[in-house]
Amino acid sequence: MNRHGNGLIAPTLTALTVLVSLSSVTGNYCEVNLCHNGATCVTGVGEEPFICICPDGFGGDTCNLTDTGPCSPNPCKNDGTCELLTPTRRGDVFNEYICRCQPGFEGVHCQINVNDCDNEPCANGGKCRDLDGDYTCQCPSPYVGKQCQLRCISLLGMEGGAIVESQISASSVHYGILGLQRWGPELARLNNQGIVNAWTSASHDRNPWIEINMQKKMRLTGIITQGASRMGASEYIKAFKVASSFDGVTYTTHRADGQRRDKVFVGNTDNDSTKTNMFDPPIVAQFIRIIPVVCRRACTLRMELVGCELNVYSNTAGCSEPLGMKSRLISDGQLSASSTFRTWGIDTFTWHPQFARLDKQGKTNAWSPANNNRSEWIQVDLEKTKRLTGIITQGAKDFGVVQFVSVFKVMYSNNGESWSTVKDGNTGNDKLFQGNTDNNTHKKNLFEPPFYAQFVRVVPLEWHERITLRMELLGCDD
Ligand SMILES: *[C@@H]1O[C@H](CO)[C@@H](O)[C@H](O)[C@H]1NC(C)=O
Ligand SMILES: *[C@@H]1O[C@H](CO)[C@@H](O)[C@H](O)[C@H]1NC(C)=O
Ligand SMILES: *[C@@H]1O[C@H](CO)[C@@H](O)[C@H](O)[C@H]1NC(C)=O
Ligand SMILES: *[C@@H]1O[C@H](CO)[C@@H](O)[C@H](O)[C@H]1NC(C)=O
Repeated sequence: MNRHGNGLIAPTLTALTVLVSLSSVTGNYCEVNLCHNGATCVTGVGEEPFICICPDGFGGDTCNLTDTGPCSPNPCKNDGTCELLTPTRRGDVFNEYICRCQPGFEGVHCQINVNDCDNEPCANGGKCRDLDGDYTCQCPSPYVGKQCQLRCISLLGMEGGAIVESQISASSVHYGILGLQRWGPELARLNNQGIVNAWTSASHDRNPWIEINMQKKMRLTGIITQGASRMGASEYIKAFKVASSFDGVTYTTHRADGQRRDKVFVGNTDNDSTKTNMFDPPIVAQFIRIIPVVCRRACTLRMELVGCELNVYSNTAGCSEPLGMKSRLISDGQLSASSTFRTWGIDTFTWHPQFARLDKQGKTNAWSPANNNRSEWIQVDLEKTKRLTGIITQGAKDFGVVQFVSVFKVMYSNNGESWSTVKDGNTGNDKLFQGNTDNNTHKKNLFEPPFYAQFVRVVPLEWHERITLRMELLGCDD
């Protein structure tokens, strides 16, 4: 049933134009534009010498006819659909038509983008941003969740011991008193007591660090630091940076939201008092590294990490929010694809990856690639690691032709370079997701188990007519 052909549109032009045959004329018809009203003239499509592609509001073979009716051209803004009213339903309303608005829009012509922040959905000082039919809260640490309603403030176990010795490592160790005192990383526990009670880097170490391996991905919202005293003198870290990693190989240095420079945290000022710093935004990682920048006498540290398990959030709130294809939280710049198709090679009818938004309306309202084969993909850069739990896909129509992707794979990556494919939990093979069967129905697939990634790719494997996709990703901010 599914075809892999290039699905050229020739037999199905009727919805747009009527083919014009001028058999007595030869040559390139479009040298003289026989189309009216600013229409585009195209040669070399199918068997007909030329066709006219009419602008909105015009029809007929040569676009010389004005489409009649109040819905043509569509008076509704923001992807609203225009519905003609029967005479009996008229009267109380202003016109012969009514606009059915997409979620998040209202007004007679859907011209008003409803401010979804109006009823202040964000708790605990979260900053609300209005989206199309949705909102997003930017939560100050340690608050998380769709509405910043959850607090992520567990002490993760440096002081309590839940983090064991083998999870703590460092670039170097200071040995005091003829090498008898070992100021090892495993001692870097908040409020640790004794004569030797903290980590100190070796004095020759020019790039010291201490690292905690959390053994799984965790959400970290803050750090508590403390110095120590050695031989009656205070030693502590006055300023430090924080780096994190998923794999212990590539590290990212923490930056505050919207900043281009590494965040330098202000640390301690004496041997004993504690200093708390929050990570804003929170860090999601398995490995966390504290990098001293300025040390008093020596880089000496006792510490605690503050955060929470990632699945706390999904257990309480359900991790299946739309991540923003439809609402445009995912911006155009975050979408890319292997290639794009242009109907009849015309720029106006380009099927950009930026159109692959669930429920998008319009003449070209989905992504479609230049070729119909299994090398094509569409990619979303979520800009930070998120927990992905599902995907909704949808087909579309190209001038009346129903097109959709019926089987696809999903790939993901943390850096946009090395990719993993979502596997079938039972067989261990690449998971083949069942896609669409028509031009409009939402088909939802869940990722079981969920995965974490910044980049997600959808790779079509089977399709009807032409690869054509609108979609939404489901997950949460973990
Ligand atoms: C539009 O063009 C066709 C021929 O291409 C012609 O037969 C018809 O009369 C024209 N209609 C108007 C309204 O000009
Ligand atoms: C270290 O801290 C304790 C408690 O605040 C204080 O009594 C002591 O004098 C400090 N030692 C040094 C060397 O500063
Ligand atoms: C898909 O088509 C493109 C362009 O024709 C070609 O370069 C590529 O090798 C094809 N891939 C497959 C898997 O056939
Ligand atoms: C395409 O989707 C629309 C909207 O749901 C539906 O009304 C129409 O019947 C579908 N067209 C085809 C050919 O399936």
